[in-house]
Amino acid sequence: MDCIESILSRRSIRKFRRKEVPADLLRKLVKYASMAASAMNRQPMKYVIVSSDEKAGEVFKLTRWAGYLKGKGSPSWDERPESFILVFNDRELAKEGYELDAGAAIQNILLGANSLGLATCWLGAIDRPAICAIAGTDDRYELIAAVAVGYPNQKSVPEPSEGDIKYYLDEENVLHVPKRRLDEIILNTC
Ligand SMILES: Cc1cc2nc3c(=O)[nH]c(=O)nc-3n(C[C@H](O)[C@H](O)[C@H](O)COP(=O)(O)O)c2cc1C
Repeated sequence: MDCIESILSRRSIRKFRRKEVPADLLRKLVKYASMAASAMNRQPMKYVIVSSDEKAGEVFKLTRWAGYLKGKGSPSWDERPESFILVFNDRELAKEGYELDAGAAIQNILLGANSLGLATCWLGAIDRPAICAIAGTDDRYELIAAVAVGYPNQKSVPEPSEGDIKYYLDEENVLHVPKRRLDEIILNTC
């Protein structure tokens, strides 16, 4: 899959198959993150790979999914992701201005994973203190996000937004994700 295909086909997936993600693929995703653009090239992002069944299950319990779907979009215990990549800011490397670095790094994880046939969901609604306790990190590291990584068990399709941007499930449990149209987001061409 080329880069553009990956950008266009990547979707947040919230239902996963119970199939282990090989450790070398998870390390590859961190490699992709490490190659992202970084302000002043400080590269303050650090990572914890959570892949043991026990720890991934514990992290899963501390995540929240698909707010618009009011419970219907969350993975059940049997649909939980096999693994997570936790993304931290190292406060000794950057005290401010690292948020965009985090976004660039996380997007590389999402796109790289999609190219490898893996499904992801960027998770910001997480219990940070509890997840840090599981990760064994101290105050030096600020948890920015968790990225769920697994094999997909859900179909999600983008569609042009008709004004409402809330994603929804159809009768066949396909997720539909409205995306704003170009004529709405291009303010001007000059
Ligand atoms: C900063 C950020 C935080 C997010 N947090 C969550 C989350 O906690 N739970 C969740 O289910 N999805 C979360 N998402 C995924 C968005 O809901 C998703 O990207 C959006 O609905 C568009 O769908 P798409 O990724 O398939 O294009 C988050 C995305 C971003 C960028």
